[in-house]
Amino acid sequence: MTNPLDVFRDGALAGHVAVVTGGGTGICKGIAAAFARFGCEVCITSRKQDVLDATAAELKAATGRDVLAIAADVRDPDAMVGVVEAAKARFGKVDTLVNGAAGNFLAPAIGLSPNAFRTVIDIDLVGSFHAARAAFPALRDAGDGLIINITATLHYHGTPLQLHASAAKAGVDAMTRNLAVEWAGAGVRVVSIAPGPIAETEGMKRLAPGDAAKQARKAVPLGRFGSIDEIAASAVYMRSAAAAYITGTVLVVDGGNATLGAMMMMP
Ligand code: HXC
Ligand code: NAP
Repeated sequence: MTNPLDVFRDGALAGHVAVVTGGGTGICKGIAAAFARFGCEVCITSRKQDVLDATAAELKAATGRDVLAIAADVRDPDAMVGVVEAAKARFGKVDTLVNGAAGNFLAPAIGLSPNAFRTVIDIDLVGSFHAARAAFPALRDAGDGLIINITATLHYHGTPLQLHASAAKAGVDAMTRNLAVEWAGAGVRVVSIAPGPIAETEGMKRLAPGDAAKQARKAVPLGRFGSIDEIAASAVYMRSAAAAYITGTVLVVDGGNATLGAMMMMP
């Protein structure tokens, strides 16, 4: 199969500067790597400095580009301001934010403690707001600003064991639409990318461990899980000039899973 990233030209994202939350691992590491490959300066952030440092070193070896790695918790609004300021100080501007930091686990609604529910809302939804709020002045000042929120398709249906994450991602998609109309005048586009089941990710390890993965694959009309590079390619497209007229949109990248129906079976 052709690598989906090979269709873009070298330098396609030159001149852009992106902050990627959750950029040390999984899907958002893939997005950070693709952005760096096509000439974008990148700052990755999450809680674990050692993980970020290892990813930055890997991306430097792969692309020759120095990637800034700053530990911060998206639940701390001041820390998010600090990340944006540090990226601006290093690269001169920030014109792109990818909100990818998230937490999830399987749990029946009745088994969720108030703190468990709140924790996922705080990371996925409130954390995305903190990062967007921190980045807005820089995105506006840079011109051609863009926020990509990484959501999901869980909330398109009733998804068992996923009340917390579904509620959080529904809120993030709502934020995409609201910020898109409020910030269009400031030259900032806001979009969501909603992945379906993506292979070799922490998300799928948690949601479909072992044999459940086999079942989950049957719920994908294209017959396979997606790849991290397929999500990264959508992010490169959204950052490219080809997507300059797109804002407020949720791009679903899921092999047809949400069109067919829910992925999770009844427990
Ligand atoms: C029930 C749970 C639980 C579980 C934690 N909690 N795991 N409750 N079932 N399996 C409860 C805890 O008991 C606690 O409540 C509360 O959640 C907070 O837990 P902490 O461990 O203190 O939180 P924290 O250290 O902030 O960690 C957050 C986390 C953790 C979400 C719980 O798993 C994490 O850091 N995850 C990051 C990585 C991740 O999840 N990646 C997958 C993203 S995939 P009490 O009441 O005891 O204090 C994704 C996929 C979307 O989002 C869609 C895919 C199709
Ligand atoms: P992942 O590798 O676990 O990515 C989540 C990232 O968020 C981690 O790098 C984690 O790093 C960071 N993070 C968690 N809590 C944080 C906090 N409080 N502050 C800052 N960073 C925090 O999982 P993934 O599967 O690749 O998921 C990436 C994104 O895609 C998520 O938004 C997820 O909801 C979405 N998604 C995934 C799938 C899938 O199939 N995997 C499907 C749909 C949507 P630290 O632990 O270092 O903080």
